[in-house]
Amino acid sequence: MSVAIEMGKTQGGQPATLDLEELLATRLLVQGNSGSGKSHLLRRLIEQSAQWVQQVVIDPEGDFVTLADAYGHVVVDAAAHTEAALQQVAARVRQHRVSVVVNLENLETERQMRHAAAFLGGLFDVDRDYWFPMLVVVDEAQLFAPAAAGEVSDEARKASLGAMTNLMCRGRKRGLAGIIATQRLAKLAKNVAAEASNFLMGRTFLDIDMARAADLLGMERRQAEMFRDLARGHFVALGPALSRRPLPLRIGDVETNGRAGNACLLPLPATQPEDARGLILTAGANEPARAPAIRPTPADTAQLLAQLAASKPPPPPGQALVEAALSAPPPPPRPVPAKVELDVVLREVLSDPDALFRSVAQIYQDFLVRCRQHGINGRTLDMGGFRRRLASARAGLDSDAAAGPEWDNAQAVAEALTEDIQPVFLLLARAAHDRAPCPSNAQIARARGSRSPRRALGLLEHMEARGLIAVSADAWGARVIGIPALGWQTAPGNPDSGDEDTP
Ligand SMILES: Nc1ncnc2c1ncn2[C@@H]1O[C@H](COP(=O)(O)OP(=O)(O)OP(=O)(O)O)[C@@H](O)[C@H]1O
Ligand SMILES: [Mg+2]
Repeated sequence: MSVAIEMGKTQGGQPATLDLEELLATRLLVQGNSGSGKSHLLRRLIEQSAQWVQQVVIDPEGDFVTLADAYGHVVVDAAAHTEAALQQVAARVRQHRVSVVVNLENLETERQMRHAAAFLGGLFDVDRDYWFPMLVVVDEAQLFAPAAAGEVSDEARKASLGAMTNLMCRGRKRGLAGIIATQRLAKLAKNVAAEASNFLMGRTFLDIDMARAADLLGMERRQAEMFRDLARGHFVALGPALSRRPLPLRIGDVETNGRAGNACLLPLPATQPEDARGLILTAGANEPARAPAIRPTPADTAQLLAQLAASKPPPPPGQALVEAALSAPPPPPRPVPAKVELDVVLREVLSDPDALFRSVAQIYQDFLVRCRQHGINGRTLDMGGFRRRLASARAGLDSDAAAGPEWDNAQAVAEALTEDIQPVFLLLARAAHDRAPCPSNAQIARARGSRSPRRALGLLEHMEARGLIAVSADAWGARVIGIPALGWQTAPGNPDSGDEDTP
């Protein structure tokens, strides 16, 4: 019994097929330079096999979230969950056999690695009862299994490299079939690439990648030259699930609708997408205690910005706090301390210069202790509320700054952002609002809870790519940052200024 899906057509117009059951046992590596059509190929594979086998897509760019509507994949926004929570989600994904897209686009590289590692670890570590076959598709695999140490911490790299190695080397027994795609074979860890027995090679420019490809495929280097001239969407297939000899093929179109067919592999349960979401995102009756509660994803930034542009009134500043309080377990019946008292304690906590560089959870603990010393119940401010207050404090804002309807807009945008970006956005927004000089890299890094000014640059790039800010330089090299959604812009400021106290 076998199921062959059609990936495309050979040069002679014959269907080029991929044997799914064989694929489960032998894994797949896709390589091709940017624009060669790897993501298209993965989408074709996912669409064609969606009805036959459960799928998980590790999606660093948010490319695959569109599968949700047509094929019922549940999109998990990794930025909205802790690592521990993601691990639990992954376990439930296996238990309930739900296909998911793990969207990592809202995270910076280091957190992409940690979150992917947590999720993959969760898939890997489940009980033997749940070792059903599933495809685990990882696009841009070199991000998660880099060949060399990069800018990220050793710890993050080890975690994600370990998870990828487990997936490719030890996943088969557990039903996990790794399907990985990379732009640059030379950038992908060798042991991860070596475990795939099936290959789809697309256009490859660099000699070093060509040489790696030839080695993996057991080809003469000269023969591998054929990868250089491949057109977009054209790949050479080789491996037990594809073809015994190198087979050139053109990947077929991608569909928008699911299709019917006769099931051969284990059919998936007929759960409706919404039920499926419920099954994996909420705790079952007998589940052990776990890490922090999962917060619902805030509105997508683009949506929010569009909303602001249409000048709908922003939510009142207190609303998020109220919502957070409502969704939290009921606080003990104590009088709520005035906001200003909490602010005083928070300022005290943050007056320790090292406070900015500790994790939110550690600072929150410290905050609770000091509240107790002041006879205040700090828990009336839950983690969510505390995080927001901390973001403002890290951005150098006190409660007075948060006054005024204009500032409410900034706050509304900030609330839609991830925790790591929030304080930086507020810092920049504040400077732009006041027409103050653009904050320096050191100040930006500090708001972010980091001592490395280089981190600041990466973050700014990320924010600019998402359309949150527009960075430009004046003729003297001073930096100006605009905030398109708010229509504000900073005065020119020296990016390398070491002065941390005046914005
Ligand atoms: N077989 C194909 N048929 C039609 N269009 C294709 C095909 N393959 C790729 N394309 C189109 O070419 C463009 C680039 O393809 P794709 O995004 O898959 O490249 P990629 O290899 O994933 O690039 P990157 O590494 O930059 O992510 C896309 O617009 C895609 O729709
Ligand atoms: Mg791609």
